[in-house]
Amino acid sequence: MNELLIKSKIKDYKVVFKTNVVEVSETIKILPNKVLIVDANVLSIYRTEIEDMAGDGDIIPFKAVEDNKDLDAVAEFYAYLIDRNAKRNINLVSVGGGITQDVTGFVASTLYRGINWTFVPTTFLAQTDSCIGSKTSLNFQNRKNLLGTFYPPSIIYLCPAFLSSLKTIDYYSGIGESIKFQLMNPFVKPDLQDVGQKIERLRKYELLDEVIMENMAVKINYMENDEFDLGRRNLLNYGHCFGHALEISSVYDIPHGIAVSIGILFAGVVSVNRGIMSSSMFEGIRKIILPCLLVRYEERHYERNMLLSAMKNDKKRTGSRLSIVLSDNDFMLSKYDDLEEKEFYEALKTLIVTLER
Ligand SMILES: NC(=O)c1ccc[n+]([C@@H]2O[C@H](COP(=O)([O-])OP(=O)(O)OC[C@H]3O[C@@H](n4cnc5c(N)ncnc54)[C@H](O)[C@@H]3O)[C@@H](O)[C@H]2O)c1
Repeated sequence: MNELLIKSKIKDYKVVFKTNVVEVSETIKILPNKVLIVDANVLSIYRTEIEDMAGDGDIIPFKAVEDNKDLDAVAEFYAYLIDRNAKRNINLVSVGGGITQDVTGFVASTLYRGINWTFVPTTFLAQTDSCIGSKTSLNFQNRKNLLGTFYPPSIIYLCPAFLSSLKTIDYYSGIGESIKFQLMNPFVKPDLQDVGQKIERLRKYELLDEVIMENMAVKINYMENDEFDLGRRNLLNYGHCFGHALEISSVYDIPHGIAVSIGILFAGVVSVNRGIMSSSMFEGIRKIILPCLLVRYEERHYERNMLLSAMKNDKKRTGSRLSIVLSDNDFMLSKYDDLEEKEFYEALKTLIVTLER
């Protein structure tokens, strides 16, 4: 399949698959009035192709770190674009991973109330997850993804060849999100042995195209009829309630997708403690996730009060207790808004033992 059409209440958009980076350059270089915002690491690795892509358009390098996923970065882009007399017919092209997407998507959705925006995802996580779904997000006052808009790119050029230059840890961040999608696959009842084998193959850089497509199909299924995240789409937050808290408490030493897979383990401990998941199922999930964590357990990342306060700041939390998405023994997910502090502390203790084992 060369194209995938994503239906959206905002505007339908397409994911177009490309086999190499030169093909992406050739497609983009014919766009008029373009400005490229490019992840600085990607620019240094693919300078020739990116310069070719830009033609006579500007290239703005962007340092993709969580600290730059904020209103200051957005304001700098507004100023830059306005200074250069950018008009409503500008074509903004973003090249990079989820951080570049979140910041530039926010700019695209708000400048002149929305400009044309093309996205070229260059990380595994952005290709398999964030590039679809319409969300743009900014961090605010140490709260993850607190600000944001719903604004999909007009078109996404997806080229897995970019992934060959990713650092191992960033590649494994995509594996973390892939584990989540595979465990919540609504099309087949997930089988832990099959999921484990697939993840093993991903670790050998095999099956990439197939898994990217499968994960996207899972995401589309959960988003369908709930693009604005009012119901079923919330379940895609499996692993994220604790995962986001861990990203904050580790000061982003733990990359997003790896934090999410640790969040799935945390959710698993809570499910076992509540009697909705068997210990053997938890053990099966643990065996898949542990070899993919890459970041060693460090006590300073798991400061319990810091984690609790970050969980309390989760924007998905609606009541006075904590929110969490849990899986049962049949891989059926539900969102719970009743996690007590005592239960949180107990689960954290067990999680730490699990990680150290
Ligand atoms: N908007 C959404 O729907 C959504 C969904 C999931 C995650 N996110 C967000 O995405 C962010 C994580 O994004 P990410 O994991 O894609 O990574 P990222 O943007 O943080 O990039 C990770 C690292 O990889 C480098 N990099 C990017 N492409 C490269 C390439 N081809 N070769 C070499 N290095 C490359 C970057 O410079 C950076 O150092 C988080 O902030 C998360 O909250 C957003």
